[in-house]
Amino acid sequence: MAADFTPYTSEQREACLAVFDENCPEFFAPNERADYARFLDAVGPAYRLCRRDGQVVGAFGLMPGSTPDEAHLNWILLSPSAQGAGLGRAIMTEAAAQAAARGIVRVAIAASHRSAPFFARFGAEEHIRTEDGWGPGTHRVDMVWRP
Ligand SMILES: CC(C)(COP(=O)(O)OP(=O)(O)OC[C@H]1O[C@@H](n2cnc3c(N)ncnc32)[C@H](O)[C@@H]1OP(=O)(O)O)[C@@H](O)C(=O)NCCC(=O)NCCS
Repeated sequence: MAADFTPYTSEQREACLAVFDENCPEFFAPNERADYARFLDAVGPAYRLCRRDGQVVGAFGLMPGSTPDEAHLNWILLSPSAQGAGLGRAIMTEAAAQAAARGIVRVAIAASHRSAPFFARFGAEEHIRTEDGWGPGTHRVDMVWRP
């Protein structure tokens, strides 16, 4: 079955945290878990679950920015078992469609040094690199994407 996208509900909080845990510490620093839990507790259906065969395998959020034509691409993550199969590309296509529908022309992405090359493939440009910005050994790369 192909992947689909559905609005986040709090029933899927643990499933999302489980995907985070699968990506920690390779992609996320351990200290980021509390931030993600707080994000999940505050976020609504604007955050999107990525499901494959009915199972939550990832999520992403195109969240409002400081002006109506700006947004942030937040907490995009996939289970390692679902990576490398084109779902990341499907998420970027979905995010671009959401952006177009909402008149968003500028998307800020706070990536890591490991995920930044993925976003660069879709045209995101690096603006600021902060050594150890997400924790020891995990560098923060602030990018701008014009989908
Ligand atoms: C980053 C992530 C979402 C990519 O998803 P994915 O499903 O593996 O990506 P896809 O299979 O759709 O790959 C699309 C293209 O990007 C490339 N790509 C994937 N991850 C890459 C990376 N880290 N660096 C460079 N290129 C990458 C693929 O090779 C593929 O290239 P191709 O189209 O030429 O074949 C996924 O690896 C992930 O969840 N990582 C852990 C969490 C994370 O780091 N999130 C970002 C936080 S800011």
